[in-house]
Amino acid sequence: MAYIAVITGARPNFMKVDPIIRELNARGLSYKLIHTGQHYDKNMSDVFFEDLGIARPDIFLGVGSGSHAEQTAKVMVEFEKLCFSDRPNLVVVVGDVNSTLACSLVAAKLGITLCHVEAGLRSGDWSMPEEVNRVLTDRMSDLLLTPSSDGNANLAHEGICASKIALVGNVMIDTLFRLLPKAKEIDITEKFGVSPNEYALITLHRPSNVDVFENAKMFVEVVRNLSDSVDVIFPIHPRTKKQFIEYDILKILESSTKIHVLEPIGYINCVALNFHSKFVLTDSGGLQEETTALGVPCITARESTERPITVTEGTNTVVGTSRQKIEATIEAILRAADCRGQHQVPKYWDGNAAVRSVDCIEEIL
Ligand code: UD1
Repeated sequence: MAYIAVITGARPNFMKVDPIIRELNARGLSYKLIHTGQHYDKNMSDVFFEDLGIARPDIFLGVGSGSHAEQTAKVMVEFEKLCFSDRPNLVVVVGDVNSTLACSLVAAKLGITLCHVEAGLRSGDWSMPEEVNRVLTDRMSDLLLTPSSDGNANLAHEGICASKIALVGNVMIDTLFRLLPKAKEIDITEKFGVSPNEYALITLHRPSNVDVFENAKMFVEVVRNLSDSVDVIFPIHPRTKKQFIEYDILKILESSTKIHVLEPIGYINCVALNFHSKFVLTDSGGLQEETTALGVPCITARESTERPITVTEGTNTVVGTSRQKIEATIEAILRAADCRGQHQVPKYWDGNAAVRSVDCIEEIL
């Protein structure tokens, strides 16, 4: 029997497919969750299934790590085999990771209807692998569901037919709002040894930040200095850890007892640590959105953002990788009495984005 193939592959995908799957279930629509295996470690994948309470994937393609070409190609080969044998009648991809692009290419070439959730985001930075993935995925999609109105404007600018595009809101915020009460039950002092509003949460993993020695060293020194003022929680991505060890700079972080370097954390712990933090310093896409929804100040250490609404309406400041700018922004936040509350939550970031998404999916089916 034909079914909807919902693709997931890497850490930021899991919280985006979760509300879609819940809604497909609620409507009795036939689907299979397909995990490409781009992320495979317990703390990069399994913990999210536990935290989100979603069923295990129906199909695991097991592709693992590799260069961009290897990873994308492996996902394509495995997903094409599945499409030949099963012939899903619609493929849903989310976000902008290599698995998103790979499965989109397969669906487009086999003439299977393709829906992209989180369509239209653009950083304008073609050196980011995710930007390539976003643009190409959108070009191939039959149904483009955007999280914010800038997405609609970007797609219109690229000449994509308006009838294919719908503003549905942010599915990741559906998950955030669903699990926030559970996250608030966590006693972060007992679990992580920090007090609410007295620490910063740091995440870094973009190749442009951690694969370049000068940038990686600069971040480590900024974090080291920051720990003179507040505690720092730094859950470290595997690629970041690998690079910091290679550059012999992990020891700088370990030299301060106020810096808590952790293995990658699960979703509920991340929401709890985000919610209670004084501010977040990150290069992640998802955290820019989650901080805006929670009203937590966010400093984005990148030259651009594909999520400009988090700056114009939310709590985000994009500072680039100038040390002086990063430290000045940190200073301003530390000096301010209270930075919370001075923001808006964008339209349709309301916990019901998956309902609107599946309305559109049902229509195209
Ligand atoms: C990918 C996404 C990025 C997303 C990030 C979240 C692309 C192009 N990038 O980047 O948009 O923000 O996921 O984490 O798809 N590794 C492990 N265990 C794992 C997975 C990866 O140790 O479970 C290590 C491997 O050394 C691997 C490296 O991390 O080579 C990078 O993994 P990869 O999936 O290629 O990219 P990310 O940097 O995680």
